[in-house]
Amino acid sequence: MRNLLTLLIFTVTFASTASSLLRIPAANVTLEHLDPTLPPALTTKTPPKCSVLVLHHVFANTAGEPPAVSNYTHPPECPFPWPRVVLELTISASDVQKDRIAAVWLDGAELLRTATPVPMAPGTFWTVQKDVTRYTALFRRLCGSSGITTTGIVSMMLENSNATLPGVFAANVTLHFYRGPLSGERFGYVVHPTAKDLYRRPADIILPVSQDNGECGAGFWFRVENDTDIPAAAVAIPRNTQRAVLEIFASYHAHDESWYANPLRSAYDGGGSFANGGFRQIYATVDGQFAGGHIPFPVIYPGSINPYFWSPVAAIGAFNLPTYDLDLTPFLSYLLDGQPHEIGLGVRDSQPYWLLAGNLHLWVDEWSDLVSAGVVEIKAPPLKVNRHAEWRNSDGGSEINAEGLVRFSGWVSSSEGNMTTTVRQKVKFRSQVEVQNRGAVSQVEMTNKERTSIAVLKSGQQTISRVQVFVEAPLQLQTSRVKAMGGALFEKARVSHQLQEVVNLNENGQALEVSVLMDKQEAEGSLLKRDGQSQPVWGSGSSRSSYKYRDRNSCYLRSLTAVEGIVKADLMSASCASTEMAEA
Ligand SMILES: *[C@@H]1O[C@H](CO)[C@@H](O)[C@H](O)[C@H]1NC(C)=O
Ligand SMILES: *[C@@H]1O[C@H](CO)[C@@H](O)[C@H](O)[C@H]1NC(C)=O
Ligand SMILES: *[C@@H]1O[C@H](CO)[C@@H](O)[C@H](O)[C@H]1NC(C)=O
Ligand SMILES: *[C@@H]1O[C@H](CO)[C@@H](O)[C@H](O)[C@H]1NC(C)=O
Ligand SMILES: *[C@@H]1O[C@H](CO)[C@@H](O)[C@H](O)[C@H]1NC(C)=O
Ligand SMILES: *[C@@H]1O[C@H](CO)[C@@H](O)[C@H](O)[C@H]1NC(C)=O
Repeated sequence: MRNLLTLLIFTVTFASTASSLLRIPAANVTLEHLDPTLPPALTTKTPPKCSVLVLHHVFANTAGEPPAVSNYTHPPECPFPWPRVVLELTISASDVQKDRIAAVWLDGAELLRTATPVPMAPGTFWTVQKDVTRYTALFRRLCGSSGITTTGIVSMMLENSNATLPGVFAANVTLHFYRGPLSGERFGYVVHPTAKDLYRRPADIILPVSQDNGECGAGFWFRVENDTDIPAAAVAIPRNTQRAVLEIFASYHAHDESWYANPLRSAYDGGGSFANGGFRQIYATVDGQFAGGHIPFPVIYPGSINPYFWSPVAAIGAFNLPTYDLDLTPFLSYLLDGQPHEIGLGVRDSQPYWLLAGNLHLWVDEWSDLVSAGVVEIKAPPLKVNRHAEWRNSDGGSEINAEGLVRFSGWVSSSEGNMTTTVRQKVKFRSQVEVQNRGAVSQVEMTNKERTSIAVLKSGQQTISRVQVFVEAPLQLQTSRVKAMGGALFEKARVSHQLQEVVNLNENGQALEVSVLMDKQEAEGSLLKRDGQSQPVWGSGSSRSSYKYRDRNSCYLRSLTAVEGIVKADLMSASCASTEMAEA
């Protein structure tokens, strides 16, 4: 009741435009926004040898414009090889603005997909660091040349508009190159969660699967409008390719911006088009044939549910949107003829619209110009999806259960021998969306469990390597709405979200690495919206987050509490001893 009284006062006080209302006095909020989903990629122990500012751009009115582009020349004092390369994106917002999606490409291959926070005060800033060691092939062979130096093209998209809200984003993209051993790391390589074990040895060649797939293109995402829209790029791969992994970048927009909360009908929510249920699957095709997929992790954008939840601590994965890997090695026999083949990207059950791009990572046989390959088994029955919906007017419920098992197996005979790669993936998914009290109360529950294993056998018997990835992502979301005076809407919400990822790597029968990422986030708060406006006029929120990453050598732990835009507690530890005690 007290909240309702407060909101009445607010409706009266803040009767002007949304832009002025989002503004919180700068002294009262933490200006630096954070997303600690992953441990920091830049180590403090060993500083990078070279740091190069590769792009600086101010994004003001850039909706519908091509990406900002700059020429990149590699610093001669940092020659290949590098034990680690880190991309750092620093952005500051001049004023209040909506959240936007941005991406960075090098020579047409996407390096980072990110969401900006909702800047609520002038001077809001944040930094995204990503381990980009897996893209070594791109930094090593830049595709253009001017005189004796080779140059690459760095580009960045951030479609902003400063027409209604004044904020412009000033962005810097910096690359950090390390040389020499990194202290405390094994294999001469970093087992950072973004350097998943599929990329433990970076690829030799990376080919973009995107809009502008010209070899030195600026790069650009594909726009996917719906279920049947499957854009493709024609890609010709070297005939000595012995391993291929497709990495897919994705973000969702408009009617699918919060797909994880969509009901299985469109009449709900004022006849809106937020429909198709809370299930999506991102997948790839090779010459039209299904080649594997993943249910996306539902990253909650900084403007979603309640922007005050995600200020200044972003939702899990928001600053570095997860990418989805498909090992395409079993399909190599279709691709090794030297001709271009169509690699397509799609989203099952999608609504307008998704932005997708892919990078095809290729490892070649340096000792021969030609390898031979064959398919052993391609068993990919479509996911079994059960949909159930019962609605009466605005109330009701939808439930979607999905389950599936795929198996792709193929051999490649190269100078290393005859290797059979078998990819197995098991998925179990459940989504429930319920709406009651004439649309006033809604409840969303989702869980996705995915187990993927990639095993490589030599001469059909000896296991050379096995990578297992187990991902679990439960999400719960409750919202209740009350109509207030003057058509305003008072909304209370609560979110609980987790990302758990366990990676096991075995080589020659020995366990090489086990890593566990366990992130949890809880947020609750309220919002006041004026009728017909998507921007809230008032809001409040608090969040508690904990991030834990552990592998055989290290443990990283961070826990954060944020209340009303201010970080109240921020604990960081390079040892998990304290929590182990707490858990025991
Ligand atoms: C902001 O902080 C100042 C000083 O700490 C305080 O006087 C003021 O009431 C606060 N404003 C709001 C809107 O919380
Ligand atoms: C990049 O270099 C090329 C060739 O030297 C030049 O034509 C182009 O204008 C440069 N682009 C930018 C953004 O500086
Ligand atoms: C970007 O780099 C320039 C030049 O080093 C610096 O003046 C500016 O403050 C940086 N901006 C951000 C947002 O980091
Ligand atoms: C948008 O930003 C640009 C660059 O800062 C500025 O020149 C322009 O006046 C702004 N437009 C509006 C409508 O504020
Ligand atoms: C799906 O999107 C494509 C491409 O925009 C469009 O041509 C087609 O009509 C759409 N199909 C449906 C069923 O909306
Ligand atoms: C490689 O092994 C597979 C099955 O183990 C076999 O069918 C294939 O003929 C072998 N290829 C070569 C070139 O030996």
